[in-house]
Amino acid sequence: MLTLLSFAALAFLPSANALVRKENVGRLPALGWNSWNAFGCDVDSTKIMTAANEMVKLGLKDLGYEYVNIDDCWSVKDTRNLTTKRIIPDTSKFPGGISGVADQVHDLGLKIGIYSSAGETTCAGHPASLGYEQVDAEAFAEWGIDYLKYDNCGVPSNWTDQYTACVPDGSGNFPNGTCPDLSNPAPAGYDWAQSKTFTRYTMMRDALLAQDRTILYSLCDWGQADVNTWGNETGNSWRMSGDIQANWPHVAEIANENSFRMNYVGFWGHPDPDMLEVGNGNLTSEENRAHFALWAVMKSPLIIGTALDNITDANLAVLKNQYLIDFHQDPVVGRSAHPYKWGYNPDWTFDPVHPAEYWSGPSSTLEGTLVLMLNSEDSTSTRIASWNEIPELKGHDAYQVIDAWSGEDLGCVKEAYSTSLASHDVAVLVVKGAC
Ligand SMILES: *[C@@H]1O[C@H](CO)[C@@H](O)[C@H](O)[C@H]1NC(C)=O
Ligand SMILES: *[C@@H]1O[C@H](CO)[C@@H](O)[C@H](O)[C@H]1NC(C)=O
Ligand SMILES: *[C@@H]1O[C@H](CO)[C@@H](O)[C@H](O)[C@H]1NC(C)=O
Ligand SMILES: *[C@@H]1O[C@H](CO)[C@@H](O)[C@H](O)[C@H]1NC(C)=O
Ligand SMILES: *[C@@H]1O[C@H](CO)[C@@H](O)[C@H](O)[C@H]1NC(C)=O
Ligand SMILES: *[C@@H]1O[C@H](CO)[C@@H](O)[C@H](O)[C@H]1NC(C)=O
Repeated sequence: MLTLLSFAALAFLPSANALVRKENVGRLPALGWNSWNAFGCDVDSTKIMTAANEMVKLGLKDLGYEYVNIDDCWSVKDTRNLTTKRIIPDTSKFPGGISGVADQVHDLGLKIGIYSSAGETTCAGHPASLGYEQVDAEAFAEWGIDYLKYDNCGVPSNWTDQYTACVPDGSGNFPNGTCPDLSNPAPAGYDWAQSKTFTRYTMMRDALLAQDRTILYSLCDWGQADVNTWGNETGNSWRMSGDIQANWPHVAEIANENSFRMNYVGFWGHPDPDMLEVGNGNLTSEENRAHFALWAVMKSPLIIGTALDNITDANLAVLKNQYLIDFHQDPVVGRSAHPYKWGYNPDWTFDPVHPAEYWSGPSSTLEGTLVLMLNSEDSTSTRIASWNEIPELKGHDAYQVIDAWSGEDLGCVKEAYSTSLASHDVAVLVVKGAC
């Protein structure tokens, strides 16, 4: 029995090698801002500098938010520089070039990110880096870039994978709904590091590592080619799903998918359920804070995607929640929170509408345990955290508890904490010592 168990554990243990970088870059999940969810293709240096200045002014920088990332559409569309082969920054949007805006961002004590794709063109049809990895990595380094988001558009037919992936969940099963398009499944035991997708992303990793500059490498292959099994050795984070959209059904769907990937979270490597939509679309105030809290406890990169000069006080307070940031940036505990119970569904149910509702994780920064409870239903409902169900809390009857949203000390709570939650809201508890 023991042998069988250890074999199963080994078979699904992620690669131990990781992209370990200087000055701890990429060791903890990234904190920052990106232009795409707020502005799409309509990006320029004014918008980038507005975001950077607001990050300082609003106190986000003081909390550790550091990357200001330019997404797609920063370059001249149809050509590279015929002499240097470099991508040409669009000077109608960035009059000082990318290096100009990089200097200004650095002057604020922040870091700057750029975007490209592991294909011939980006998703908006601009020149991308497949075949030009060295040229582009060199240009990015010279311009002062600190972060690269590397998308998966514009892949020519001779670079597509031989097989489509069906990705197992955290316990090695294939939950219902994860294999919608298995037209050409890989044989059992196929090593996805043999795939062309792996090669496309590895070529850019090697080009970045060859530069005399530390550039955080954020893979965006939409979870394809079972990236969870090779993401840790290739990048600092890797997208595990398709793009997020600013509405609850999308947020819940991605939270459900990522909940099965928590064994892959650790120092230097983080599955990425995509950038934040807090402040965007039709998310209610409950949905905004549930989205942020779930992303924070999953130790996802937290990349803000809203116009910061326009953000409401309520949404800003969510992004600045000290308890969640402390949990997320724990320098001692690398693992994320894990679901300890699904709640609405039986445990391990794959359900895009009702993700796991009960999560817990240890925290050195909070000197205790973080507990999250979600109401995934469409109406108000009660959720109960029972200490004897929570792995970190079994063994004592009563604990000191703080409500992470209000900061209120709830005192010594015996056996369980029960709370009524509005639709799509979360309770976040900081559970301290036994009492
Ligand atoms: C990723 O690699 C690092 C360094 O080798 C290791 O500490 C970490 O545990 C790995 N992550 C996972 C999820 O195995
Ligand atoms: C291409 O690069 C050369 C050499 O740096 C430069 O002189 C020229 O202006 C660039 N052309 C464009 C269109 O950016
Ligand atoms: C795809 O074709 C291009 C252009 O001929 C070539 O440079 C590249 O090596 C090919 N890729 C693969 C994976 O064979
Ligand atoms: C927001 O929009 C999505 C997608 O259009 C829809 O499914 C959802 O019900 C809407 N939510 C609210 C609170 O209006
Ligand atoms: C700011 O918010 C207003 C009202 O919510 C909206 O109409 C406007 O488009 C927003 N501006 C930006 C830059 O997002
Ligand atoms: C998975 O799908 C099968 C067949 O559609 C169904 O019988 C089973 O209950 C589903 N399991 C879960 C956990 O949803």
